[in-house]
Amino acid sequence: MTTFEVALGGPTDWGIDTSATTVFDFDYKGGRDQLLRLYDKGTRRQWIGSDRLDWSLDVDPEGPVGMPDELHPLFGTPWWDKMTDKERVEARRHLEAWRFSQFMHGEQGALICTAKIVQTVPDVDSKFYAATQVIDEARHVEVYSRYLYDKVQLVYPLNKNLESLLNDVIQDSRWDMTYLGMQVLIEGLALAAFGLIRNAATEPLAKALNAYVMQDEARHVTFGRIALRDYYPQLTQAERDEREEFCVDACYRMRDRFLGEEVWERLGLPQEASDYVEHSDLLRSFRNYLFTRIVPIIKDIGLWGPRITKAFTDMGVIEYAESDLDAEMANDEMAAEELDKKRMRHIEEVASQA
Ligand SMILES: [Fe+2]
Ligand SMILES: [Fe+2]
Repeated sequence: MTTFEVALGGPTDWGIDTSATTVFDFDYKGGRDQLLRLYDKGTRRQWIGSDRLDWSLDVDPEGPVGMPDELHPLFGTPWWDKMTDKERVEARRHLEAWRFSQFMHGEQGALICTAKIVQTVPDVDSKFYAATQVIDEARHVEVYSRYLYDKVQLVYPLNKNLESLLNDVIQDSRWDMTYLGMQVLIEGLALAAFGLIRNAATEPLAKALNAYVMQDEARHVTFGRIALRDYYPQLTQAERDEREEFCVDACYRMRDRFLGEEVWERLGLPQEASDYVEHSDLLRSFRNYLFTRIVPIIKDIGLWGPRITKAFTDMGVIEYAESDLDAEMANDEMAAEELDKKRMRHIEEVASQA
């Protein structure tokens, strides 16, 4: 097997100072039924990364994930047409390595944010649920990093836009801002991106990994929705406006997160190629698609004033407000269960042949 350079530079650690207050809740009996049911579900649905996923599958490090070329941002551009076969292999491999690396770093952000929620959220039922999510997020970091280091053998550092968003969310001392930034915005965006890979990837390990992570994420988004739907009506209009403003700014920043300039630079492409990709129809529809989950969630939690509706209208994603979130989440659960059934059938077949 060819040996690749694995980690592409970047710092080895990152510290963020925060002044958040750690809160005890002594009302042990005041739990909300819906949240306690979600906690019960989160506890029962735990899984082990090394058992549920088949790591013995061979993944070609030269063509990981197996996304169709038509979905590569460079596909159809003069730069793609000029590439040799070897250069196209690199273009595919670097794009997937970059994308999965941002998933992995984002998952570590989720791990840290959820641990922070355990400390700062005022209600014990939310602390219970968040505790199950902490282990989910640790598992997500584990499976993405294992896929990257063992299979793709190429890891990109944290993207600058994602870094600045994580910094703002973690630094903010208000518990609901951690939810809003992480559970609603970052996870909402990630869910859409994971979904694209789950549905379009042809490499079975990457497909299953994303499907199983999505099954957990569907619960996480529900957690954010329950907590914020209860809390936001209690705030003043000025406080809600401030949160809306934060969402508008974060959404614009996130739209710029998936441009992949680091990849084009690494591949030695000119700035012109990066600009071309940024304005291409494919990337525009991909960036819009990333908002399929965020828009209905923001509407659902009641941050639906003129600032946010104007921003979503300008971005061309306002129509997602009408999508059926519960149906999407049920579909995420079903997709993972289908894969489990398939896996069990395969295990039974192998056992019967032995
Ligand atoms: Fe996660
Ligand atoms: Fe999550």
